[in-house]
Amino acid sequence: MNSSKQTASTSFKAPDSSSLQLNDQGRLRHFLTTENLSKDILTEIMDVAESFSSVADQAVKKVPVLRGKTIVNLFFEDSTRTRTTFELAAKRLSADVINLNIATSATSKGESILDTIRNLEAMHADMFVVRHGDSGAAHFIARHVAPHVSVINAGDGRHAHPTQAMLDMFSIRREKKEFKGLKVAIIGDILHSRVARSQIHALNTLGVQEVRVIAPSTLLPSDTKSLGVQVHGDLRSGLDGVDVIIMLRLQRERMGGALLPSEHEYFECFGLTAEKLAYAKPDVTVMHPGPINRGVEMDADVADGKHSIILQQVTNGIAIRMAVMTLALGANRASDSS
Ligand code: CP
Repeated sequence: MNSSKQTASTSFKAPDSSSLQLNDQGRLRHFLTTENLSKDILTEIMDVAESFSSVADQAVKKVPVLRGKTIVNLFFEDSTRTRTTFELAAKRLSADVINLNIATSATSKGESILDTIRNLEAMHADMFVVRHGDSGAAHFIARHVAPHVSVINAGDGRHAHPTQAMLDMFSIRREKKEFKGLKVAIIGDILHSRVARSQIHALNTLGVQEVRVIAPSTLLPSDTKSLGVQVHGDLRSGLDGVDVIIMLRLQRERMGGALLPSEHEYFECFGLTAEKLAYAKPDVTVMHPGPINRGVEMDADVADGKHSIILQQVTNGIAIRMAVMTLALGANRASDSS
């Protein structure tokens, strides 16, 4: 592939992140996927997030940790929660933040992603937060940035959404205190979900007892069992005794053909209702990364009910993103001084 010809609409090569994410001292330099990251690194992200969570309670919601740093949000795909919480997180760390409007940027005139990146680097950007519809886009950028620049994957195609997974892990840890012994069910459109993949890698690394995926067979990837999960086709039996339920959105925009008979039928079989919730443990925690389709994935009563922590997940996303940005830019400083 000629990288100088890379455009926003081109498919990217399948990512190999193992050596790319860490600097030569084993510190997180880019955050592209939860796959192959150690338990220590995932735990450090949550510990640093915990230390930042009280910033929101201060009269002035700011700390000077990234003062003088420039962070550029590059969102080639729509987002409410991720883009806004990355911006808030950067501002709470006192960084300068640019939200590049892709629709009105020179990419719409055919400029390649790499040329856009090089121009932003010429403006002294220190970090790119990238969301893209194609799997591998953030990895591609990470392979080409200057040594002092970090890249955070804010969701790439069906591949990974590591900060979403980490805010979910952080939310689970805050509710349940520890991962050992937990049974976690992930329900819905696993096939198209970058969130599910990132969660499954993180949950297994953090040592939960069991990860179950519950979905119609048409919404399961062919490699599901190799991910280290139990597969269930029936919601009620799959929910039996679980501690945490993570609902997923039906990703209609990624479904090429008819994978489901109808949303009504899907809700009948896989939609979470109070009656089905009763099969889980009495203190079950209900989560959803958003955006929610009420009446498709879950009843409004469950989304807003006493077991739901869906809005706390959004709040926790700010602290997690503060932690990831701080650790990644700190790793770059460590490399500079070595
Ligand atoms: N959970 C999530 O990624 O939401 P957004 O698409 O709104 O960022």
